[in-house]
Formats: sequence, C-alpha cells, structure tokens
Amino acid sequence: MLFGTVIIVCATVIVSNCIVTIEATNSHQRSVQQDQIPPLQIAPVWLNACKKKDPNLDECIRMTFQNMFPYLAKGIAEIGTSPFEPMHIDRVALTKGQGAVTLSGAFTNLIVHGPSNTTALYTKMDLKKNRFDIGLFIPTIKVESKYDLKGNLLLLPLVGVGDAKLYLKNVTTYVQTKIYFPKYMNETVMVASSMKVDFNLAAMRVNLDNLFNGNKVLGRTVNQFLNQNALEVVDDLKENIGENLSTIFKQIMNDAFSHIPTKLWLQDD
Ligand SMILES: *[C@@H]1O[C@H](CO)[C@@H](O)[C@H](O)[C@H]1NC(C)=O
Ligand SMILES: *[C@@H]1O[C@H](CO)[C@@H](O)[C@H](O)[C@H]1NC(C)=O
Ligand SMILES: *[C@@H]1O[C@H](CO)[C@@H](O)[C@H](O)[C@H]1NC(C)=O
Ligand SMILES: *[C@@H]1O[C@H](CO)[C@@H](O)[C@H](O)[C@H]1NC(C)=O
Repeated sequence: MLFGTVIIVCATVIVSNCIVTIEATNSHQRSVQQDQIPPLQIAPVWLNACKKKDPNLDECIRMTFQNMFPYLAKGIAEIGTSPFEPMHIDRVALTKGQGAVTLSGAFTNLIVHGPSNTTALYTKMDLKKNRFDIGLFIPTIKVESKYDLKGNLLLLPLVGVGDAKLYLKNVTTYVQTKIYFPKYMNETVMVASSMKVDFNLAAMRVNLDNLFNGNKVLGRTVNQFLNQNALEVVDDLKENIGENLSTIFKQIMNDAFSHIPTKLWLQDD
C-alpha cells in the first residue's frame, strides 16, 4: 500500500513534467499577438470558410480545424506560427519537495512526437454565450528526453541520470473555451480568454533508463509499477495536467487565430 503510493507520486512528477515541457515551448503568454505580422487578407488554401448562418456551422468549423492541423504542425509562416512537430524543448526543471517523496532535477533535450496527427472530433460554437468547445483526438504521443533526477521515495534513495521515454495512446481531449472578438490591426479576430481541458487516454508506458544508479532490479521494479498504475496515476492528475494542457492549447490557438480575421473563416453572410 505504502509502496504503491510512493510510485504514484513518483509518476505524478514524471507525467505532469512531461506535459509542462510542452508548455515550455510556448512560454510567453499574451492574448493577442503583439507582433508585426499583419492579419491575413486573402483566404489561404488551408483555411476552410464557414458562415455563421450555416445550420451545420459546428461541422463546418470542425473541418476548418481539421484542415488546419497539418499546416499548423509544420508552422505557418504567413501568420507567424512555429512548427510543433516534433516539439523540441531544451530543459524542464522540477522540484517536488514535500512529504515522504522528494524529487528534484530536470528533463533535458525533450523531443515530442504525435501532436501533428491530431483529429478534430467535434466543435460547438455558441456566438451568443461566447463559448467555443472542441474535442481533439491524438492517436499517439511519444516523448524522448534525458533525465537527471535525485530524491527519496520513503527510505529508498532515487538517483537517476539517463534516458526517459513516455508513450501515450489514444489521447482524447475535451476543450472548453471562452472567446471574444477583439480588433487586431483593425481586423476582427477570435481570441480565447480562458480555456478548460479535460482528457482521457487509453494507455501509457513510461521508461526511465538507468534509475537507481544503474541498479537494474530496483529500476525495473519502479518502471513496472509506473506502467501497471499508469491510468490510475493519470486519473489522479487530470486536473493538474488539464491546467497545463490548456496553457499550451490556448497559446497555439491564439497565436494562429489572432492573425486570421473572422471575415475569412466565420463570415456574417
Ligand atoms: C501519424 O500517423 C501516421 C499514420 O498512422 C503514422 O505513420 C505517423 O507515424 C504518425 N506521426 C506521428 C508524428 O506520430
Ligand atoms: C479600420 O476599419 C474601419 C472600418 O472598417 C475603417 O473605416 C478605417 O479606415 C480603418 N482604419 C485603418 C487604420 O485601416
Ligand atoms: C485506439 O483507437 C483506435 C481507433 O479508435 C482503436 O482502434 C484502438 O483499439 C485504440 N487503442 C487502444 C489501446 O485503446
Ligand atoms: C501546471 O501544473 C502544475 C501542477 O499542477 C501547476 O502548479 C502549474 O500552475 C500548471 N501550469 C500552468 C501553466 O497551468
């Protein structure tokens, strides 16, 4: 029982850190991009236009997002967005200090594969309440990095320097946003003011190589525990991970949509 608890907390650190890393690429927060890139004036090939009066507006907007993802993943120069497949993150420090488990250290040289295969499951646009919801499905997320962690699991010292791998399967996210429509360089654009993210996943695998100073038996034990308890661990962390995911999603969405006037994709007539 106690040992199980320890493992879960340990996994907590790993999982939430994995997610925090994604956030690190988009660390500067702002609502509307204050850069010098003017809003688009002509609809590009990757932008599917919808009309507000369309009785199937939600499906139309779903297609707009669906069509955009592959381009967003590669980066769209004309609206100034950077590629996010794979995501490279230099370093993520972590300090998890209180109680029976302490861990400090960092993951470095992170490479995240998978987000470019995102599918838009549904969207729901409510222009009266200024609400926008979208469901996203990511079939696989793979993270490779170096890790350097030091701490204690109860009486067990945990020291590890090596390679870390995470593999997440069938990640479904449910995103709820509050939106508004400010002017950016004299064009009306859509911006998310707040975002809430819930998610599910079908499976997760974690591997920390060279744990416990290369002690293969202890290392294997911890990794096995992590994997056996993966879904419970994630369940425990949903709220925290969701907060971190929302930061990433909001940034990506606002970076893109603050350069795309609504007249090109959410038309009055
Ligand atoms: C995207 O999906 C395709 C087809 O399933 C797969 O071959 C490819 O590896 C995936 N790409 C990433 C980055 O996961
Ligand atoms: C901004 O848009 C308004 C109305 O569309 C127009 O009258 C005005 O000239 C524009 N201002 C600039 C600086 O482009
Ligand atoms: C992941 O989703 C696909 C498509 O819905 C499904 O065929 C597959 O069985 C799922 N995998 C797991 C591990 O749930
Ligand atoms: C990420 O999650 C951690 C742990 O819950 C939280 O303290 C932090 O505020 C979150 N970061 C963001 C940007 O939401």
